[in-house]
Amino acid sequence: MAKLNVNICGVNFKNPVIAASGTFGFGKEFDEIYDISCLGGISTKGLTLEPRLGNPTPRIAEAHGVILNSVGLQNPGVDVFLRDDLDFLKSKHIAIVANVAGRTLEDYEGICARLDGLVDMIELNISCPNVRCGGMAFGIRPESVKEATRVAKSALKHTPLMVKLSPNVESIPANARAAEEGGADALSLINTLNGMVIDIERRRPFFANVTAGVSGAGIRPIAVRMVWEACNAVGIPVMGMGGITCAEDALQFILAGAAAVQVGTANFSDTLAMPKIIEGLNSWLDAHGVADVNELRGALQLD
Ligand code: SIN
Repeated sequence: MAKLNVNICGVNFKNPVIAASGTFGFGKEFDEIYDISCLGGISTKGLTLEPRLGNPTPRIAEAHGVILNSVGLQNPGVDVFLRDDLDFLKSKHIAIVANVAGRTLEDYEGICARLDGLVDMIELNISCPNVRCGGMAFGIRPESVKEATRVAKSALKHTPLMVKLSPNVESIPANARAAEEGGADALSLINTLNGMVIDIERRRPFFANVTAGVSGAGIRPIAVRMVWEACNAVGIPVMGMGGITCAEDALQFILAGAAAVQVGTANFSDTLAMPKIIEGLNSWLDAHGVADVNELRGALQLD
């Protein structure tokens, strides 16, 4: 069996397959289907200081090869997470990444301070396209990426900070470098692409929020390209995500330079997608005589 564990900023992930935020809740529902202790880790649904009800419905639509969501960061609030979910996740011995969001820089600072030392890693969500205040607003321009990162980092004494980048930007390398300059310990990308569906009978947007975030297999080539660009722009570790459905998809991100991958939308169409990807990675590495998945990180050859 090949070695699958990866170390990112001092955090041990038993394998490089992590549940992506917003597709896995806080793990309990999936743990009824399979023992989630097999995963490398989980990134929680985006947490805010206060509970949020999210956007009005409809909030989900399908299109060829993709889904669109406009959830609007619905979550029970960080204190409910700490009371009801953290012990359960700790009992699973998987790396716990808390995805955090806010309306203001003070919100980001406050939630990072609240979670510091309690989880293994913070994933700073400055890339949600579905909220009017905060969210992607901080993730578009390099100056605000750097500032949001700096503020979050200043609240963290014990827990490494990973910044989740938006694909809806002019330059991924510029924003990746801005996060690194702001003090990020790691990056994750991509969050969803901004999209729209129109109800032609009603001649109106399908989504109550008009636009929505696009994810799923159809966005994978864009995500691989952006992860590759980010990995070439910075010296800190990168987690890649966007449309991963199988081990071979995950390997594209790792060859592009990702230290680990997050799997999101695939969990909706196949609840066993992540255990299958982990098993698939094992088989692929064995079949190709690769003893350690870390050997493949950034091993893309351009000539
Ligand atoms: C949402 O809750 O709207 C999705 C979260 C995100 O895209 O970051």
